[in-house]
This record gives sequence, structure tokens and C-alpha cells, in this order.
Amino acid sequence: MKVFELKKNLEAYLLDFRKSAKTIGLVPTMGALHSGHLALVKQALLDNHVVVVTIFVNPTQFNNSEDLIKYPRTLESDLKALNTLTPDNIVVYAPPVKDVYPQGIVSKQYNLGYIEHEMEGKFRPGHFQGVATIVENLFDIVKPNKAYFGEKDYQQLQIIKKLVEITGQPIEIIPCSILRESDGLAMSSRNQRLTPAHREAAPFIYKTLKAAKKKFGTKSASEVTNWVVNEFKKNKFLELEYFAIADQSTLKPVMRKQKFKKYRAFVAAFAGDIRLIDNIALN
Ligand code: PAJ
Repeated sequence: MKVFELKKNLEAYLLDFRKSAKTIGLVPTMGALHSGHLALVKQALLDNHVVVVTIFVNPTQFNNSEDLIKYPRTLESDLKALNTLTPDNIVVYAPPVKDVYPQGIVSKQYNLGYIEHEMEGKFRPGHFQGVATIVENLFDIVKPNKAYFGEKDYQQLQIIKKLVEITGQPIEIIPCSILRESDGLAMSSRNQRLTPAHREAAPFIYKTLKAAKKKFGTKSASEVTNWVVNEFKKNKFLELEYFAIADQSTLKPVMRKQKFKKYRAFVAAFAGDIRLIDNIALN
């Protein structure tokens, strides 16, 4: 497994692959790798000759400086985890901040439209501009044929689709389904920071999403929303930030259900000071 810290070395290395028409897959991550990340890498390994995994805690997407400081950085164990896959076909890019942001730590500004300001965008101002900035940058450096993103961050996935529409980068975006712990909690690098009590309480999020899905069969979106809000009020370990039911492709909130449309429910909740997100397809 090759590990690069500098983009100029990574670019030089990838040149040979491109010349020999080998396909390149890209899996961008912020590290603290868990099985959810590894599932993306496994899919990418199946589809491509070589897979670039980037490990970079991107400062421009953090609107909370405390969260940025406390974000787990575990490069050594991340490399070990990747080594258990097919290391000969994996290339890691784990750069220092200045290799990615030589001109200073600022986001570019994109017109990402409506989806930027809903849900995650509403509660994390500037977050998606930071995500788009780093992902465009990584796309430019790696020039992958395909790039892999998890449905765990469903809104991010839609943002990335919008990004390639705007930039015209010829990259196929591949969505990957959410990996969960055995008790249903969506895997996340932030889970390791939960206190034992909050870790025990956290599966409530997915349990409530599943119950909401069942209710959505017979009830309106606002009835389901009210029910979920009430359920969270009864839980003293979790504080709901938002619950939203939206059209799966536009992410516009649903007013009146339409038979032929696909809907998804989205949730963000705090377990102590750890912010957790999850989502579920409703129909
Ligand atoms: P990070 O949170 O490290 O996630 C990297 C990728 O793994 C994302 O595409 C995310 O959706 C996916 N992922 C995380 N948990 C998952 C799970 N339980 N099941 C399936 N996929 C999962 O998302 C980011 O980093 C950053 O915003 C990034 C795109 C790297 C830009 O900095």
C-alpha cells in the first residue's frame, strides 16, 4: 500500500495508471475508519484497478471549532485497517493542511441551490461549501473515474452530485448504503466519543426512524413528524435538533404525499455534545 502526504507525489504516481488506462476509484474520508468506510473501499476495489483513499480532516467544513479539534485522528490504525483489504490496489493520500490549502483555509463559494440550506445546511452554516471545496480539490488531484459516498450523509451525497454538475468533472458518483452496528446505530467516527450512557441511548435514533417509516404508510408527514418530536422529548439522553421528511431526490420537505414519489426521513440529534445524524428511505 502506497501512502502519500504530498499531492505532487500522488499525482506523479497516478500518472502511470492513467497512461495505461487503468480505472481509478476515489473514497474521500476524514479518517477514524470504521466498517462503514471500509465498505466503500471494498466496493471501490471491486469496480476499479486502483483505489485512492484520502484521509484528511477538512477544516473548512467544520462550523464548530471544538468539533474540529476533537475530531479523532487515528492514521496508524486507519492504515492497519486498510491493510486488511487488498493493500496492493490501495493508495492513501493523507496530507497536511497546507498541501490542500496552500493559499489559506477558506472555502470556495458554489451555487449549490436549495439543498445547501435545508437540514444539515440550516444547522451547519457553510458546511457544504467546505465539503464541496475539498471534494472538488480531491477530484482535481486524483481525477477518478468513480467516487464513492455513503448514504449515511445523504444530503452530502446530493451536494456532490450537484457539484459535478456545476464543475463538469467527468466522475461517476456511486452511492453506498448505510452500515450499522448490531443495535442499529449508524456507524460514525463520532460514536467513539460517546459516553457509555449516550452510547446505550443512541440506537433509539434508528429505532424511531424505523417506527416513523411504519407510520408513514398510513399517516401524513406532519403527523409522523409530531410523533417523532414527542418521542424524542421523552428521551432524556438525546436532544433532537431536527427531524424532516423530504423528497429523496430534491430534498424539498413533503407537504402532501404523492404516490409516485420517493421519500426519506432525516434526523440530527445530540447525545451529550456529540451530534449524530441518520436517515431512512420511507417508501
Ligand atoms: P467521513 O465522515 O469520514 O465519511 C467518509 C465517507 O464515508 C462518506 O461518504 C460517508 O457518507 C461514508 N460513511 C460514513 N459512515 C458511514 C456508514 N455508517 N455507512 C456507510 N457510509 C458511511 O463525509 C466525510 O467524511 C467528509 O465530509 C468528506 C466527504 C471526506 C469531505 O471532507
